[in-house]
Amino acid sequence: MNIILFGPPGAGKGTQAHRLVHDFGMVQLSTGDILRQAVKEGTEVGKIAGELMKAGKLIPDDLMIRILGERLDKPDTKNGVIFDGFPRTKPQVEALDKLLAERHSKLDCVIEIKVDENALVKRIVGRYVCAQCGAGYHDEFKRPHKEGVCDICGSTEFKRRPDDNEEAVRARLVEYHEKTAPILPVYEARGIVAYVDGMLPMGDVATKIAEILKEKDAKPISA
Ligand code: AP5
Repeated sequence: MNIILFGPPGAGKGTQAHRLVHDFGMVQLSTGDILRQAVKEGTEVGKIAGELMKAGKLIPDDLMIRILGERLDKPDTKNGVIFDGFPRTKPQVEALDKLLAERHSKLDCVIEIKVDENALVKRIVGRYVCAQCGAGYHDEFKRPHKEGVCDICGSTEFKRRPDDNEEAVRARLVEYHEKTAPILPVYEARGIVAYVDGMLPMGDVATKIAEILKEKDAKPISA
């Protein structure tokens, strides 16, 4: 099953994708994570992406589409993926249709995580991750059980994203409204969009998404 988690920066796409990987054994394809890895490795893509990401701007479509196509060629995507952060523009919508069709696959569902825009800046600016295992935390909403120690791996090192400051978040929201939000009607016209209230606690959002997926015959790992 191929699904898109759709919503503005901070809606909870990454948070929910991690849960789906754990609960349904799905594969998360986060274009933001792919780009951050390229920046870390100092590749050509990373050099182009780094400054744009820091400024909250989208990466050019042709580059993004090439990266996505290469990722879809890896064997772990054969049984379907969670698209987290792609598509973000109309050309990316068309490219995704083409890339999936070429692989004898299709998009099954788009889940829009609806959020109150006022909550987003607070969510993003307070977010940080474990520098060792990548587990996500938040200054207010999700602190480690023991202050300063990762719940998962016990590391005491944490890091924040360079684009998680108020100025960059506001720029990311402008990009979202101008280029990304207008693609939702394309999927609504196909009748494949489901909606969840992203203002609910994280666990409740996860329950709602799981219900949507089970209706579409996705099987949880424990089932
Ligand atoms: P990307 O990494 O995709 O960032 P984003 O879309 O801005 O989304 P975020 O990761 O910030 O938010 P999220 O929805 O995943 O929220 P999260 O779960 O972390 O992209 C980064 C950049 O890469 C882009 O700006 C662009 O430059 C480039 N890029 C990527 N893809 C591209 C593409 N296709 N084309 C062009 N450029 C591209 O949650 C946020 C916080 O809120 C967390 O702390 C979490 O704990 C908390 N939280 C989550 N859910 C809840 C809840 N229900 N209640 C309370 N708190 C919650």
